[in-house]
Amino acid sequence: MTGTSVSNTSEALEHVAIIMDGNGRWANSRGLIRSEGHRQGATNLREVVEAFANEGVSFITLYAFSMENWQRPPKEVQNLFDLLVESVAKNIEGLHRDGVRIQHIGNMVDLPCEVREAIRHAEEVTQNNHQVTLSVAFNYGGRAEIIEAVKKIIKDSIPFSDITEKIIEDRLYTTGLPDPDLIIRTAGEKRLSNFLIWQSAYSEYYFTDVLWPDFGEADVRKAIREYKSRRRKFGTLES
Ligand code: FPP
Repeated sequence: MTGTSVSNTSEALEHVAIIMDGNGRWANSRGLIRSEGHRQGATNLREVVEAFANEGVSFITLYAFSMENWQRPPKEVQNLFDLLVESVAKNIEGLHRDGVRIQHIGNMVDLPCEVREAIRHAEEVTQNNHQVTLSVAFNYGGRAEIIEAVKKIIKDSIPFSDITEKIIEDRLYTTGLPDPDLIIRTAGEKRLSNFLIWQSAYSEYYFTDVLWPDFGEADVRKAIREYKSRRRKFGTLES
């Protein structure tokens, strides 16, 4: 683990969630096909995860494939599936060595067999690691997550008078994870796109024009510095 820490100021940063946007634009701007952008985007994951870990971040969540992404051309969807399988094969050993626990959030049922297998393998190998939890949102949708939680509540026959935030949170994909302190979106867009919509109620947001494949250690440090300069009030008068 390298780099000078910027995490010695006020706001604690436990969980960072990232909307990795701009792979297509990165490829287009170089006259490459979109899949090259995704490939480059997958390549820099390791550096970014390590940079956050070096800054003491314990939970990192990546938005790698949304439920809405099924609407892309089948070839691109297949490309993203292949990349996930490849990324697991390529990185699992190193991540395991670094004490990273990998977990999937999202809907597994509709994913092809090879993707489910890769995810299960990654989860199984790393299940006892505690250094960093890397959650991969793959076939994830925030509204679908809430609908599933509601269905579980009904299935569990929980009376309406007993419904609390905890009852709902215990039935989300993210159960056991702290809410994200910081949500980063690359490539200039300023929206949440159905990502962690329940969990982001009090998150801070960081938007950058940097395209995801170009996002590296220096950008990690910049985002953390910006986060540390904020004052979180959670609805109180504290500042
Ligand atoms: C958004 O860029 C990015 C995605 C839809 C996929 C994110 C996937 C990766 C970073 C690599 C894959 C990693 C794993 C682990 C599978 P975009 O295609 O919407 O970019 P654009 O808006 O510039 O077209």
